[in-house]
Amino acid sequence: MSGILKVAVIGTGAVANDAHFPSWRKIPGISIIAVCDVNKIAAENTARRWQIPHSYTDINELLKAEKPDIVDICTPPNTHLSIIEKAFETGCHVTCEKPLAMNLEETCKIEDLYKFRANKANKFNISYSMLYHPQMLALLRKLVRKDAGEILNVDIRCLHPVDEEMLANPKHWCHTLPGGRLGETIIHPIYMLYKICGNLQLKDVYIAKRGPYNWVNYDELRVTFDSERGFAGFYVSFNSPGLEYPLITIDGMKRHIMLNGHNHNLVETCPTRGYGIFSRGTDSLIQMSKIAGSLIQNTVRTLTLRHKNSHQQYFELFVDNIKNNNDMPVNTEDAFAINRIFLSVLERIS
Ligand SMILES: NC(=O)c1ccc[n+]([C@@H]2O[C@H](COP(=O)([O-])OP(=O)(O)OC[C@H]3O[C@@H](n4cnc5c(N)ncnc54)[C@H](O)[C@@H]3O)[C@@H](O)[C@H]2O)c1
Repeated sequence: MSGILKVAVIGTGAVANDAHFPSWRKIPGISIIAVCDVNKIAAENTARRWQIPHSYTDINELLKAEKPDIVDICTPPNTHLSIIEKAFETGCHVTCEKPLAMNLEETCKIEDLYKFRANKANKFNISYSMLYHPQMLALLRKLVRKDAGEILNVDIRCLHPVDEEMLANPKHWCHTLPGGRLGETIIHPIYMLYKICGNLQLKDVYIAKRGPYNWVNYDELRVTFDSERGFAGFYVSFNSPGLEYPLITIDGMKRHIMLNGHNHNLVETCPTRGYGIFSRGTDSLIQMSKIAGSLIQNTVRTLTLRHKNSHQQYFELFVDNIKNNNDMPVNTEDAFAINRIFLSVLERIS
């Protein structure tokens, strides 16, 4: 396929303005032709800010008038099904923000719409954005090369501060979701674990409330899974001194790999076998030099403008998938499977 692909963005709130528009603008071969938001002022302001020619409050009107090739959905999860249905009906490729759906009924309906849609050439994917961060893609390449050896254990920690905007705002829509703020966010560690460990079977869920807000039921969560490759688990906290998100540790039979998604450090270590001061000192020096190496690499990539943010990388691959049928790190079937695992956790926390 050649030519310019026309993109319409539905929902002009935080994620659209902070991540989607800046990223779409860097993708060659696309043009954002229209936006839609039920909030007229938000739609108009966003169109003006990003110099997008048309804004709508009704998606039906947008689809009829603009005939986009791609519909990019940036609205809260309870609206995804109806927007996806309309976009498929008009034959668009669709990319949707996570979480796809918060219950099994809607997930099944979306899967059916995808499987039995009229035009089977049309693509669909979910913006599991953290998988597309350059350092995450580098980590996944290490796993394909088996740099860590056989995987024994994977842990992901997602640490948020207690004054985090969405959590601290009692009127935010996330508090109306099953699982509240946790329900809005825990798909992130789940899709990362799925990509690293393969299919996941839920084992244990530990949940607690430690923070001050009376509109929040739970703000601490620890989950463990059986997986195709090693033990897998994640921990989410909304009572941390700062944002550190995600911290990934992979313990392998050959090496350990650690990714700090907040400061972008990707470090591979292989401890020496000794217990003496010299061995421990050597291990520390090696670890420090790896962190310094990762810092230098990140700095060079940023200064030479080679750094791509995760949504940019995701959109680039999605467009490439449309044009050239190349693979995405998560194919559509896996994206649905991940949502089902997410629902199994959600059931235990809501
Ligand atoms: N991938 C990520 O890292 C990431 C980050 C933040 C949010 N998200 C996800 O993105 C989605 C949007 O989150 P947000 O933080 O931007 O929310 P938001 O509340 O800031 O923005 C949502 C916008 O959608 C509009 N809207 C609601 N229903 C609509 C409808 N039926 N048609 C058109 N517009 C409608 C609202 O008026 C609002 O302007 C959620 O699913 C959220 O979980 C993903």
